[in-house]
Amino acid sequence: MTVTKEPTRKGPPAPEAPVGAPARPGKEQPRTMRDLRLAHEGKRRAVTRPVENPLREGLRLERMPEPFAFVLFGGTGDLAHRKVIPALYQLWRTNLLPHEYALVAVGRRPYTDDTFRSDIRASLDKYSRTLPVDEEAWAGFAERLTYHQGDFSDPASFDRLVQRLQRVEREQGTRGNALFYLATHATDFPEIISQLGRVGLDHEVHGGGWRRVIIEKPFGRDLESAIRLNREVLKVFREKQVYRIDHYLGKETVRNLLVFRFGNGIWEPLWNRRYVDHVQITVAESIGVESRGAFYEETGASRDFLQNHLMQLLALVAMEPPASFDADALRDEKVKVIRAIAPPTRHDVTRDIVRGQYGGGWVEAHEVPGYREEPEVDPQSETETFIATRFQIDDWRWAGVPFYLRTGKRLPKRASEIAIQFNEVPHRLFREATGDPQPNLLAMRIQPDEGILLRFGAKVPGLGIDVRSVNMDFTYGSSFSVDSPDAYETLILDALLGDASLFTRADEVEEAWGIVTPIIESWADMPPPDFPSYEAGSWGPEAADHLLARDGRRWRRI
Ligand code: BG6
Repeated sequence: MTVTKEPTRKGPPAPEAPVGAPARPGKEQPRTMRDLRLAHEGKRRAVTRPVENPLREGLRLERMPEPFAFVLFGGTGDLAHRKVIPALYQLWRTNLLPHEYALVAVGRRPYTDDTFRSDIRASLDKYSRTLPVDEEAWAGFAERLTYHQGDFSDPASFDRLVQRLQRVEREQGTRGNALFYLATHATDFPEIISQLGRVGLDHEVHGGGWRRVIIEKPFGRDLESAIRLNREVLKVFREKQVYRIDHYLGKETVRNLLVFRFGNGIWEPLWNRRYVDHVQITVAESIGVESRGAFYEETGASRDFLQNHLMQLLALVAMEPPASFDADALRDEKVKVIRAIAPPTRHDVTRDIVRGQYGGGWVEAHEVPGYREEPEVDPQSETETFIATRFQIDDWRWAGVPFYLRTGKRLPKRASEIAIQFNEVPHRLFREATGDPQPNLLAMRIQPDEGILLRFGAKVPGLGIDVRSVNMDFTYGSSFSVDSPDAYETLILDALLGDASLFTRADEVEEAWGIVTPIIESWADMPPPDFPSYEAGSWGPEAADHLLARDGRRWRRI
């Protein structure tokens, strides 16, 4: 009998370190894309050793990262407090991190380790996915949490960081492995990267000691700056060390899209222009810009959502099946899709792209101010808080099938979904029937109420022939009684395990900017938009409805 090797928090760590919570006996439980790949290739590595605990017999154990130091730049920022640190806490709490792990938060503010810890504790009490915070887990987590004060533009602070990491390695056994997480303002990325290079923290030591960097979005603000940033990053790190994060790729439902498409035989034959009329991708938010007015003024919906989250969803829906779940095989296919969309000309932008900005209104029974009245927003702002686009993918599979994408803030509710609308039946046998059967539709709900719905026509019981659309609905909540991990948990763990499948590659980011940059540039040349153009709590500007009406279609009500 063999099992995967099992380092525990108590014993000495092992490099192949799998383990953690046991999975269902006898079942293969791939967790990361890498697991899927290994399972797919039949190469899952099992290390043999005698089993001491007979109760563990037959259990497949989850893998655990090797010992490591997690260096979080922007450790005092919003993202760190709301997402990154709660995700690490959750991984720690569920025994998915090794004992030999240290978190070094880097920031400009003058904290001591203790004051920083109590701030983090307050944030966990608010943002942890599981509450109340588990005191025992917190004690171990806090012990490994330290603060490094330093200005990103001050070389001396990086010299001190080197010494600190050496100490951490000696005292906490992190073995020279380090993951640098850049959760700062994007303008700080180049400086941090180049300083890490200067002090040699990018160097992977032969025979142990990996170095990786996670870079937050937005990666650049247009094609040119993204190319420049890629160049800066790749001067220091090799592409294999770079993890550009788009948290939508870590969402459970988004990952399920791959399983749904490629783990089932029945969809693939239908997944093309012969059967699909069009595709709609909606990411609606009810929130406004909250406290991020200054950030949002610089980004707008095109940079904040279209270039990354929406383009990634589109790529996953439209890509060809990859030959394997190898990170590059998967990303090659996504890049091909984005490349098959022609960069919009100015004429296309006028015709196929709609932008909008919310005015005051009511959302979820609360009166809310317009975007121009939000803190840190220019009262004359031309920044778009809504965007709707019509893209065409010029390849064999999708020629002639429009992809409509929309996203916006202060829409009536938080609801994201991908809807595949199939063609009408070619010959209506039930023409005389009353009722209003709609063409078949497959809707994948990303959030909330995660699930998948299939719409089809059914006969209404009775003597006549009435046909009505009915839904077959799968919901995660009722089918699986487990909580889904947060996207950041999934992605951070993947990066620690060296699995880059759900991170974007340099060329992918640039291709997406190749579509979005002409849109932003065309807008800059056009007369100022007539903003605000939609009321908070509505589904966006009327022009977005016209975009589909022109093609004889309409947005799905969600
Ligand atoms: C971020 C955007 O990437 O995603 C925010 O910058 C947005 O503007 C957020 O609110 C939405 O994420 P989620 O996971 O809540 O859908």
